[in-house]
Amino acid sequence: PTLHVVTPTYSRPVQKAELTRLANTFLHVPNLHWILVEDSQRQTPLVTRLLQETGLNYTHLNVETPRNYKLRGDMRDPRIPRGTMQRNLALRWLRETFSPNNSNSQPGIVYFADDDNTYSLDLFEEMRSTRKVSVWPVAFVGGLRYESPKVNTLGKVYGWKTVFDPNRPFAIDMAGFAVNLRLILFKPQAYFKLRGVKGGYQESSLLRELVTLSDLEPKAANCTKVLVWHTRTEKPVLVNEGKKGFTDSNVEI
Ligand code: UGA
Ligand code: MN
Repeated sequence: PTLHVVTPTYSRPVQKAELTRLANTFLHVPNLHWILVEDSQRQTPLVTRLLQETGLNYTHLNVETPRNYKLRGDMRDPRIPRGTMQRNLALRWLRETFSPNNSNSQPGIVYFADDDNTYSLDLFEEMRSTRKVSVWPVAFVGGLRYESPKVNTLGKVYGWKTVFDPNRPFAIDMAGFAVNLRLILFKPQAYFKLRGVKGGYQESSLLRELVTLSDLEPKAANCTKVLVWHTRTEKPVLVNEGKKGFTDSNVEI
């Protein structure tokens, strides 16, 4: 199957560094299609060029998150979903492009890969065999070294090894699951909820439309291995640029 990897991204000093690192990972993955969705009114020259130069198979989309949904004040406010409209646009694109009457049908897997996480190459091989929804542990989330689905001796997921709200229907980070494209096409109403989602419920808002707990397929050696890390990039200190800037603003970073 083709791995459709969906990445929301927004303009900031570290954006090109993040996307460069991500592209370098993806270049090692066979049969990968990168759906990069800019949180912007227009597709930016920086991202357009970067995509062209990677040599990856990609689709470049954009949609701007309306201002009232953008982070204001508290950067860590969990009620403001980041990248949600961008992921939903990618879901719509997948449905339009691979709808059965489009004669475009081909096996595929959908994975939501944020631009700042760290992905092992093994992860992509694990998700390739996803029949409905596969799941695995994610490091550095929920105040733990890692969060993980709980797997019983029969290899079935029966709960969540998390401290933060383990009663969520799917207590799993965005980086912790992949979905078979067939299921996305079969459930055309399934999207991430944009309004009224409590922190940590974004993933559940999509997954509950697609599967039940007993459908989940544990990967990464029955969820005993960590193959993805929810890393976050430090904001660079640019105080010496001053108000008018010091370095040549025509030089892209
Ligand atoms: C956590 C989860 O891992 C995210 O999947 C989830 O979207 C997010 O919380 C949330 O619910 O708000 P976190 O590291 O806090 O992630 O979020 P970011 O990495 O800052 O953002 C997630 C993705 O959205 C990134 O790919 C980022 O580039 C993108 N994003 C962020 C935008 O497209 N626009 C923004 O204004 C902010
Ligand atoms: Mn992140």
